[in-house]
Amino acid sequence: MRTVYVNGEYLPENEAKISVFDRGFLMADGVYEVTSVLDGKLVDFEGHAKRLERSLHELDMASPVTTDELLAIHRELVQVNQLDEGGIYLQITRGAPADRDFAFPDPEETPSSIVLFTQAKNLANAPSAQAGISVISIEDIRWGRRDIKTVQLLYPSMGKMMAKKAGADDAWMVEDGQVTEGTSNNAYIVKGRKIITRQLSNDILHGITRAAVLRLAKEAQMEVEERGFSIEEAQGADEAFITSATTFVQPVVTIDGSSVGTGQPGKIALRLREIYIEESRKKAL
Ligand code: PDD
Repeated sequence: MRTVYVNGEYLPENEAKISVFDRGFLMADGVYEVTSVLDGKLVDFEGHAKRLERSLHELDMASPVTTDELLAIHRELVQVNQLDEGGIYLQITRGAPADRDFAFPDPEETPSSIVLFTQAKNLANAPSAQAGISVISIEDIRWGRRDIKTVQLLYPSMGKMMAKKAGADDAWMVEDGQVTEGTSNNAYIVKGRKIITRQLSNDILHGITRAAVLRLAKEAQMEVEERGFSIEEAQGADEAFITSATTFVQPVVTIDGSSVGTGQPGKIALRLREIYIEESRKKAL
């Protein structure tokens, strides 16, 4: 049984409790982060901590812990759960006021709730990274602040189910004819040695893996172009791939049933995956 962290306590997972009045539960009024763990160490903790701070700030929500405390909790959970590879899920909500109300509670009276737990997962040797994944396209009908990492994940979750029903692995969301991102990852295409991915804005989550992968691509003399692209352009590209903390870099081999490039995982995607994992192992703390 896992040990999880809830509001200052480390508890067995079946003893951890959150109030029925918690605004995360009633209103999806909460933010989250997923930090990957390799060799029992945290990958890009600083990037995740900074984005968390930004998400909280954008929603005018107080953090119940400092960044140093957060790091200590992450490390303690890795240790007590003997987690070698996988991730740490962290969620902060606007807490549990005395009743349901649309207005935010006074933060002096209602402290934020915080929950963290570990998830063991094979990351470096995930079979889908070698085989490549298939995606379908769906309309992006999410709200306009996708740059904030909120727990409002119903539509991405529905998108994942639409993909499964269609026999695919995931969905790429499309708005005004251009791909925004995957249900829980950023989306890319490759043409020649050029990597194309949508520019940062409120329309997509500013992926921590995205930032690292684009930096590594430039260091490896690959060209990077930050702009939108359509499903048709992606289907005609040489390669396609996704990035996230839970997938790292994974090649996309079919889009809406049509093969991308040779229909096999692309060389550039696999090379970026290799470099990313190598660097993450070196820098993890
Ligand atoms: N999802 N876009 C969306 C909509 C996401 O939910 C995620 C991450 C990303 C990639 O961000 P990062 O590289 O920082 O993981 C992009 C996490 C992993 C999840 O929901 O489980």
